[in-house]
Amino acid sequence: MKAWTKEEKYRVYKDADRTELELLHQKIKASPYRQSFHIQALTGLLNDPNSFAYFDGKWRLFYQWFPFGAIHGMKHWYLMESDDLVTWEAKGLKIKADTIYDNYGVYSGSGMEIDGKLHIFYTGNSRDEAFVRHPYQCFAIMDKDGSIRKSEKPLISESPLYTEHQRDPKIYFDEKTNNYYIFIGAQDKALKGKAIVYKFIPSEETPRFEQGAWDFLGELKVKGYEDFGYMWECPDLIQVGEKYVLLFSPQGLEPQDYKYRNIFQNGYLEGDMDFESLTFTPSSEFRELDHGFEFYASQTAAYVDRTTGEKNHALIAWMGLPDVTYPTDEEEWSGCMTLPRILTLKEDRLYQSPVDEMKNLRKHTLYAGQEKLWQGETKPSEYLIEGIQGNLELHLFGKGNGVSHSEEKLINNGLKIVYNKDDKTLTMDRGQMNQAFNLAYGGTRTVELEEALHTLQIYVDHSSVEVFINQGKYSMTARIFPTAEEKFTQIRLEEVASLKLWEMGVALEDKFII
Ligand code: FRU
Repeated sequence: MKAWTKEEKYRVYKDADRTELELLHQKIKASPYRQSFHIQALTGLLNDPNSFAYFDGKWRLFYQWFPFGAIHGMKHWYLMESDDLVTWEAKGLKIKADTIYDNYGVYSGSGMEIDGKLHIFYTGNSRDEAFVRHPYQCFAIMDKDGSIRKSEKPLISESPLYTEHQRDPKIYFDEKTNNYYIFIGAQDKALKGKAIVYKFIPSEETPRFEQGAWDFLGELKVKGYEDFGYMWECPDLIQVGEKYVLLFSPQGLEPQDYKYRNIFQNGYLEGDMDFESLTFTPSSEFRELDHGFEFYASQTAAYVDRTTGEKNHALIAWMGLPDVTYPTDEEEWSGCMTLPRILTLKEDRLYQSPVDEMKNLRKHTLYAGQEKLWQGETKPSEYLIEGIQGNLELHLFGKGNGVSHSEEKLINNGLKIVYNKDDKTLTMDRGQMNQAFNLAYGGTRTVELEEALHTLQIYVDHSSVEVFINQGKYSMTARIFPTAEEKFTQIRLEEVASLKLWEMGVALEDKFII
């Protein structure tokens, strides 16, 4: 890996850099790890989803982007748009780090459609001459024609009560009281992770956010979670029916049994929210949104379902983690998003399901029938295995020739997904793949199911696998970087089950748009 100077790391993209990036993209495009149906970095590094929102009849999603290489350098916002959360169109770099308030990066934030405009809130990561960080919560407005205007002044300056870690504003509208709130991820002076809250106080003189007064209300009291990691990134509050769900990405949790195995976590609490006392009272334990390897900085977007008229939430996350490296870093790109998922709350658990329109990406059926054993070549595909009873073993990206259907040719490599009916555990093991990586955090992840495994829905792309378990009650997500010889799938079941496999089409063109 090349060594980056400070100047290179904090270089702001300029129009004159276009050719350089275009050449870089041409090189990157040839990588076997470029995805078919996941949003991925054009070049350089992609991290958090930002301002994920349904605005003017389209889904908008910006991503945190450092264009010049696979490092966390100067971050900008790159825009993607979609009609259906499946196919996406790249719109280019839309918010640059070009003011004194964001001179070291346009950090994460959120967006909401209000009066026909997308209102965008983000953190300006600013640093002074002594390189001391001063976070500002900044504002921008996007019009229906796609033009974006950054507000000259930030909405909120740093609070002296917290450390320099104050970021990722999430805008929230409380329908009961007609109030707008901003939730911000923060670290208190005792180095504990918190969410802090600001409230918009409109007045005759300040009817718009950008000129308005935002009152610091204080810290969100989350009962039982006063000491839960050293920093909370990307807080997000949603209301589902009468209940609330607080999602966030805590840093600094120690691994516990099968839990908290990744460097950082991303999870949620279900409970009740009282804005008067600024208290969130959890009625569930903290649950990780995903039980695989890569899943971080999730963000939700509220929308009204066209057919049912119900208010729902979609969620998307970065299929990656801070402070870890990936094999494509050598190719000067890294990072993709998870598939967007529709959320439903059943009892106190969030279920995640891929959108129905994903079916439109099924190109043709590779297999449909009842089997105990299936084997074939691994392609970008969707696997639906229903009526599972007993143990299961699945090898994706295995080494094998894939010609025989005989039980003698059982393979024991690839990305293994193994269900053990006795202890109801599902384990994902990527540790013995040719390109194993981040082994410091282990090569396996396990989730203990409350009930027996009955359904698996799996999306395989060129360098990722997403497993939805028992109709989205659990999910397991991983990046994988198979080599040319790892292209064989074997599914082995103890009992006959219904297998359906589709080859998937392309949802995003890998075109150079800036
Ligand atoms: C999460 C995060 C955010 C921050 C952004 C910077 O991955 O660290 O807290 O705003 O990334 O890129």
